[in-house]
Amino acid sequence: IAPRAAAQDLAGLRVVVSAGGTREHLDPVRFLGNRSSGLMGWALARAAVLRGAEVDLVAANVTLPAPPGTTVHPVTSTADLAAAMAERTASADLVVMAAAPADFTPTARSDTKIKKAGDGGLHIDLVQTTDVLAALVRHRSDPRQVLIGFAAETPTADSPLLELGRAKLARKGCDVLVLNEVGEHKAFGRPDNEIVLLTAEGADGPHTGSKDLLAHLIWDTGLAQRSHR
Ligand code: CTP
Ligand code: CA
Repeated sequence: IAPRAAAQDLAGLRVVVSAGGTREHLDPVRFLGNRSSGLMGWALARAAVLRGAEVDLVAANVTLPAPPGTTVHPVTSTADLAAAMAERTASADLVVMAAAPADFTPTARSDTKIKKAGDGGLHIDLVQTTDVLAALVRHRSDPRQVLIGFAAETPTADSPLLELGRAKLARKGCDVLVLNEVGEHKAFGRPDNEIVLLTAEGADGPHTGSKDLLAHLIWDTGLAQRSHR
């Protein structure tokens, strides 16, 4: 990690990192959410600061203290995240979507707390949220801007991890896809992870280690993509 910090190879570059998990409110006290803690996004922000970047952190419901040297922009829902990313990324050199956005949102939000009706159940209608990363790819105005996404996957024998990752890279159209397996005891909320870095050139990994170490590998890969342009 120390040689990369000394290299200052992100000096003069603006980076935007999204982190955490979005929440879609059902009523004033309830939401749909996920287990993302923000640790990976925070590690990416710290690593970028060490390497000399100007860092904007768009944070969805992260309870960690702001990393020194960064500007944190708090958001709640996927729609908020989409708006904040559209605003912050226009002049960014590298963007990492480490956040776990909710894919679905309730069609309606109740102004009052939803009450039980007798002993009946509850049906909630959901619609898909905007795909923030796909929108960033579509609206990219600076051809040198590098867009990095994550893929959170639960592979099976029929759908192996690499196959799921390659399909997602093709679907998203980003420059780098950081592939990781998620589960009850994997990735979310942990200080370490195992990742594979997917680009048009192929698959690099698996790399295992602290999220701080992996963050540096992700920036290395992003910078390598930038040097191709
Ligand atoms: N992402 C996004 N906007 C969404 C959903 C996901 O920008 N509404 C981003 C994530 O931040 C991540 C990448 O897209 O960088 C992949 O997220 P993931 O949940 O793995 O994939 P999805 O495209 O949502 O597909 P699915 O969950 O169905 O596998
Ligand atoms: Ca998703």
